[in-house]
Amino acid sequence: MNKFSNTSYQCYFDNAATTRVRDEVAEKIVDVLKNNYGNPSSTHSYGRPSKSLIEVSRKEIAAHLNVSSSEIIFTSGGTEADNLILRSVARDMKIKHFISSKIEHHAVTHTLEELEKDYNAKISYVKLDNNGGIDYDNLSELLSNSKDRCMVSLMHVNNEIGNMLDLEKVSKICSKHNALFHSDTVQSVGHYKMDLSKTKIDFIVASAHKFHGPKGVGFAYINKNCPIRPLIFGGMQERGYRAGTESVHNIVGMSEALNISIEKIDEEYKYIYNLKEHFINRLKTSIKNIKFNGYSGDIKKSTYTLLNVQFPLEKAKAEMFLFKLDLLGIACSKGSACQSGSDAGSHVLNEVLDNDGLNKVSVRFSLSIYNTKEEIDRVVDEVVKLLG
Ligand SMILES: Cc1ncc(COP(=O)(O)O)c(C=O)c1O
Repeated sequence: MNKFSNTSYQCYFDNAATTRVRDEVAEKIVDVLKNNYGNPSSTHSYGRPSKSLIEVSRKEIAAHLNVSSSEIIFTSGGTEADNLILRSVARDMKIKHFISSKIEHHAVTHTLEELEKDYNAKISYVKLDNNGGIDYDNLSELLSNSKDRCMVSLMHVNNEIGNMLDLEKVSKICSKHNALFHSDTVQSVGHYKMDLSKTKIDFIVASAHKFHGPKGVGFAYINKNCPIRPLIFGGMQERGYRAGTESVHNIVGMSEALNISIEKIDEEYKYIYNLKEHFINRLKTSIKNIKFNGYSGDIKKSTYTLLNVQFPLEKAKAEMFLFKLDLLGIACSKGSACQSGSDAGSHVLNEVLDNDGLNKVSVRFSLSIYNTKEEIDRVVDEVVKLLG
């Protein structure tokens, strides 16, 4: 039992895939569903309060990032926001050269592949170190050698191995080379404070279900100096940037979730950081030859919410291992959520692991405030038993 939760039996360690909605957020969503069903585009007394809920939410979210509320566009989530930004930049800002990495989320990598086909865009991939860390010198070189204006697209927190990008550093490199900078911040919004008036980033994205908000809603931050047009055409919602009746309850739920996350960020950071530290220590002392993928085992170089563990167990036993954990009520992931159920190995682990590592079972455990030390002890004890 922990102070945030009244559940004691289930061990949910897949918070990078999605998080439990906070009770306060769920209550707010239900309240809006029941009491604010007017269409925000309607000008009568039912529509106006819905519109105003959306605009208050937009203002609150913009305030957390220290940007103007007109720079926040609500979307259906992180994937749509990444698509909106990357596709519109290629089409409307005529950017022909994108610099990214091979370990981005598929919302970015697959979109960039489409830009190659649709706009003949050139995609360069920045070098990575042995743990998947970005080679910042190589990024500068790629930018210096480009004859075209570039867009750099690098994620803040990697959803599989937890590596963190130095946003400030990349922002400075991009400014020096007059490049646009997009960062997929799906795994960091709500987990870290960000001040975009200090760190110049042209585009970021967020997804509410990663910070204890509802699924199916997110936003794109688009700097006002970036003239882009919509991906989805229709009505004039979102000032024409994104047509379609707004999901009022989800938008309100998202801003409530972000408000609470930011308000409690120091307390919750400390709580989860200690859990991760405990998890690493317990694994190291209980299992010989345990390894951590990427920088996830280095608590200073990775996010406090994620640990990607390489067990001394042959890969062929991965499915059975995860199945047994699942039977024990322990939920974790073998790769990113989007790949579970498919045979494709993780494109991120394929980039960062050597053959020996690829032949071992790797499991991502991702934490939230709803986890406890007791749960971690239980997981480690069960894993030790399974490894025999
Ligand atoms: C880094 C990253 N980007 C984008 C996404 C996609 O977000 P959504 O589920 O809101 O479409 C995810 C979800 O796992 C993610 O982790």
